[in-house]
Amino acid sequence: IIAASRSIPPIPIDIMVQRSRVAIIGAGSVGATIAYACLLRKVCSEILLVDIAPEIVNGQVLDLADAAFLSSTVVRGATFEETGQCDIIVITAGAKQNQGESRTQLIKRNHKILNSVISSTKPLNKHAIILLVANPVDILTHIAQKLSGLPRNQVFGSGTYLDSGRLRLFLSQLLGVSETAIHAYTLGEHGDSQFVAWSSARVGGKPLMDFPEVKNLDHEKVEYDVAHKAYEIIKLKGATYFGIGACVASLCQTILLNQRHVRPLSVYVERLGVTLSMPAVLGTKGVEEILEVPLNEKEKKLMKSVHSMKQIIDKYD
Ligand code: LAC
Repeated sequence: IIAASRSIPPIPIDIMVQRSRVAIIGAGSVGATIAYACLLRKVCSEILLVDIAPEIVNGQVLDLADAAFLSSTVVRGATFEETGQCDIIVITAGAKQNQGESRTQLIKRNHKILNSVISSTKPLNKHAIILLVANPVDILTHIAQKLSGLPRNQVFGSGTYLDSGRLRLFLSQLLGVSETAIHAYTLGEHGDSQFVAWSSARVGGKPLMDFPEVKNLDHEKVEYDVAHKAYEIIKLKGATYFGIGACVASLCQTILLNQRHVRPLSVYVERLGVTLSMPAVLGTKGVEEILEVPLNEKEKKLMKSVHSMKQIIDKYD
């Protein structure tokens, strides 16, 4: 009898011994908050911060060091080239949304930045995981998959993990049930055309739509509010960073500990020929499997993300 709580494929030794360095490219509020969340969660042994503005890196490193001593994590500045050798390379570098601006409007500016970031990290560690966070995350993930030359399962984006968290928080407050018992996903674009997969959502095994409080909701309004929460935060305080910081630290932990959590991530969906959010099994090697959620007819129509994103992606292919 082999005593094990779960049967999962073993991590190849050469990956396991290396897996502990997280590089964060872009040391603004999002990058620094990811570093901070990684420190507090004790996700890795070393965090490398890089930015084109060295004084920002120095300032963030000094400030983060005041928190790092509590978790014995090293935080330091690094060169772009060094980041290419890390286990996880988180890319936050890029322009952020201004008030009222959509994520897709950032593509021209952030495409250029991504291009130069990826070329300056090369040669890349062949086991590296590239985790895209900069927006528009789905399109930038698609581009990064091509530019990096790494296998597609090692290059993915934070996608609608945060939006799904926003939805689960709302449902948890509505039903008085912990978020951990709510399996509900916001899918598609991490942007205006995202949609909720209501029909397949479950709370402790019970269909979400069987709860009268949920059935009687104005579903379109909930979807709109979830998709527009970032706009609301930006209007009030200029930027979002705590939510994405916590989500990315949790994704890094899932990768480094090979936890196999299922997360809605920005991944390439072969069948559709686009990169958008679908639930994916996440482990040390990156995305291990994409789980396609069953959708009803109405939800299938809402996959309009596919069309809007295909048009943009075609320009960069
Ligand atoms: C947000 C950013 C990460 O939704 O796009 O807060």
